[in-house]
Amino acid sequence: MTEPFAHGVVNGADSVTAIVSKAMSRTPDPRLRELMDALVRHLHAFARETKITEEEFEQAVDFIVRLGQASGPEKNEVILLSDLLGVSTLVMTLNNAQGRGETDAALLGPFYRAGSPMCRPGESISRDAKGEPLEVKGRVTGIDGKPVAGAIVDVWQASPVGLYENQDPRQPDRNLRGRFETDGDGRFHFRTVRPAGYPVPTDGPCGEMLRAQDRHPFRPAHIHFMVSKEGFRTLITQVFANDDDCIAADVVFGVTPALSGNFQRDGKGGWRLDYDFVMQPGTRRIPRPPLP
Ligand code: BEZ
Ligand code: FE
Repeated sequence: MTEPFAHGVVNGADSVTAIVSKAMSRTPDPRLRELMDALVRHLHAFARETKITEEEFEQAVDFIVRLGQASGPEKNEVILLSDLLGVSTLVMTLNNAQGRGETDAALLGPFYRAGSPMCRPGESISRDAKGEPLEVKGRVTGIDGKPVAGAIVDVWQASPVGLYENQDPRQPDRNLRGRFETDGDGRFHFRTVRPAGYPVPTDGPCGEMLRAQDRHPFRPAHIHFMVSKEGFRTLITQVFANDDDCIAADVVFGVTPALSGNFQRDGKGGWRLDYDFVMQPGTRRIPRPPLP
């Protein structure tokens, strides 16, 4: 057992933070030490600044317990809370934005599935053909402007009623999901139907929080993209419909000015979207899918 370490005793509220910090000061892993020290300092500063009451603290503990209870293989309420508080977007931006002209990253979201069908250029990912037709074309380049040939462009989206196929028994398996390979000039092209915006799940503690804050639960219509190739940092992002009512009101803060896609009428009753992606050099890494 670890020897007792005399970090000192508490003598009034002002003394607590330094004592806890000292108690953790022998953490062998330096990064864990840094993270925990900052966490304690910020949590204590929060308690001091807000003068949180004991009743409020009890409520917060109960809320965290219920986040865990509401989570399971179908839904991760803890990630959802982090999305709704902007923490997911902050962490993703801190880790991805290099300011070298690369495309902005956006959340992977809970609906990514690995192993989507490999499709031919121009193929439709709408396997029930319901909705307004949409043709998507684009080009993948590096930050040096050179085409990235042979990149895999993995796309997934909600249906025209705002449901992913795995949330909707009326859609065929893998509907509105597909993978495309860029050609020698870095180009890709697919057909689909226009997605609709949708609400995040509101049946758990996160829904309670949104209602208490008088916030709506909607995300603007979007298409998810994951662009990957050896030698490049995997680009995980979303392109949003610029004409969506919620474009400036995404409940999980995924929209950036550059990710607002120009959805245009094609003059034939459908839509078209042209969107180019710029990848940074780095390591190809495919995230663990949140869903089987
Ligand atoms: C999504 O992009 O699919 C998503 C992201 C965060 C919460 C819910 C959905
Ligand atoms: Fe989504």
